[in-house]
Amino acid sequence: MINLPYKDNGLEPVISAQTLSFHHGKHLQAYVDNLNKLFVGSEFEGMALEDIVRKAPAGAIFNNAGQILNHNLYFLQFASTSESQHKPTGSLAAQIEKQWGTLEAFKADFESKGVSLFGSGWVWLSADANGQLVITQEPGASNPVVKGLKPLLTFDVWEHAYYLDYQNRRAAHLSALWQIIDWKVIEERYAK
Ligand SMILES: [Fe+2]
Repeated sequence: MINLPYKDNGLEPVISAQTLSFHHGKHLQAYVDNLNKLFVGSEFEGMALEDIVRKAPAGAIFNNAGQILNHNLYFLQFASTSESQHKPTGSLAAQIEKQWGTLEAFKADFESKGVSLFGSGWVWLSADANGQLVITQEPGASNPVVKGLKPLLTFDVWEHAYYLDYQNRRAAHLSALWQIIDWKVIEERYAK
């Protein structure tokens, strides 16, 4: 179970302390507890999360491991508004500009794919083996590693991520999230 690198109220007003405490302390904790029970004695016990997600068949082990991997990458990409680096720099910034023209155009594309994802899931920015960027919509617990991509940045569009603060206003939640994305973290993932 990951520890958060900020306080429960550290992402306010974008994400409230109440949402964060339920999302991290209840939802993610449940996925961790479930996986710890489910994989005992299976071929997946002790395997790295990414490997479980790549190899497990559809079912409970895949779902719980996928949700742990998704939430780890999600929670660790944030910093408070005052501490986050608000724009990408270097090779990541150049690649976004090459493919989308501007950062604003990329953000609009990413948000619209989050808004149009039907039901529960995740919208991701990933890199392929050549450093090309790609936005994917992943249903349920899936993660871009299943497609051989390197996951960089994600918005959780499960309702538990925003319902206490934004109710049905998913689009408003997604457009606010940019304020707490720490692009330094995304750059480090891209460079790996
Ligand atoms: Fe979530």
